[in-house]
Amino acid sequence: MSNDAEISAKKYQNILQTIGNTPLVKINKLAPEGVNLYAKIEAFNPMGSVKDRLALAVIEAAEKSGALQPGQTVVEATSGNTGIGLAMVCAQKGYPLVVTMAESFSVERRKMMRFLGAKVVLTPAAEKGSGMLKKAVELAETHDWFLCRQFENEANADMHSRTTAPEILACFTDENLDYWVSGYGTGGTLKGVARVLREKSPQTKVIACEPESAALLSSHIPQEAGESESTYKSHGSFSPHPMQGWTPDFISQLTQDAVASELVDEVLTIPGPEALRLSRQLAVEEGIFVGISAGATLAGALKIAESAAPGTNIVCMLPDTGERYLSTPLFGDIAAEMDDDEQALAASTPSAQLGA
Ligand SMILES: Cc1ncc(COP(=O)(O)O)c(C=O)c1O
Repeated sequence: MSNDAEISAKKYQNILQTIGNTPLVKINKLAPEGVNLYAKIEAFNPMGSVKDRLALAVIEAAEKSGALQPGQTVVEATSGNTGIGLAMVCAQKGYPLVVTMAESFSVERRKMMRFLGAKVVLTPAAEKGSGMLKKAVELAETHDWFLCRQFENEANADMHSRTTAPEILACFTDENLDYWVSGYGTGGTLKGVARVLREKSPQTKVIACEPESAALLSSHIPQEAGESESTYKSHGSFSPHPMQGWTPDFISQLTQDAVASELVDEVLTIPGPEALRLSRQLAVEEGIFVGISAGATLAGALKIAESAAPGTNIVCMLPDTGERYLSTPLFGDIAAEMDDDEQALAASTPSAQLGA
């Protein structure tokens, strides 16, 4: 907050009321001159990711429909952020939560969920996203638990239509929004925001990004259904990528819906190293501390910005906080010990020297 900022502090009755209304922040140094590139920073949600929206939406829709009964256990397959959001919502509302998660996702994600009181069941990395999903379905059927089904649940996309999209449009009341750029995991953000943009801001081009090594949409190979409801066959175009939360090894129902309804104007593929590089650049040059998929989305937005006319307005989604990646390649070259420069600085004045 700068000195001349308006005070807009609010009192909330519980943590769940703080979900959403995330800020749109201009990218100043990384964007080409003359192009207005804004980032919607979902790290401002209470548990630090866009998935807090989905978690609240899915639980409240299930409470309303009666699919979730008081005290019933909630179960979901998640690469982490949904689980963390659900763990917060279930803790606040008093539901036990069990999460299934492939062992390949970052350790801090598991620990956070357990810290919030959830149980985390790890599944083999080799069985990928579709394996952890199958496990969650089995557990729900066996124990009569409520399965969130984030990849198909309309409450996921509806939440983005009710909150994320109007929040973006509220920032463009007197000028055009030319491009909106997002990745996809469940596709909730993509379907929910894009359909509102189509209706209320038809000039806005919707750009979906996916990993270069998992270019599922770009392959135009249709997704095959799995053996049972809410499961999928592993897509042949998938190979592992560093953008946790983006593109599982299948095209979810919500993502398929967005594509089938022609809500996506263009699909861009993003190389993993580019995602890591731009996540770091956001931190170092803009002071914006976000995760790998955020760097990837920015890469897509910069591709658009490169050839955009001066005055073009672009919004990209930055899905989560960088703190979730301390044990991942994002922090691979960040040392815990002092480097030569730091040692020289330490030696440049007499007091408080290590090993003195
Ligand atoms: C870090 C991260 N980025 C992007 C996404 C994609 O969001 P959505 O599930 O709405 O497609 C997710 C969620 O899966 C995520 O956790």
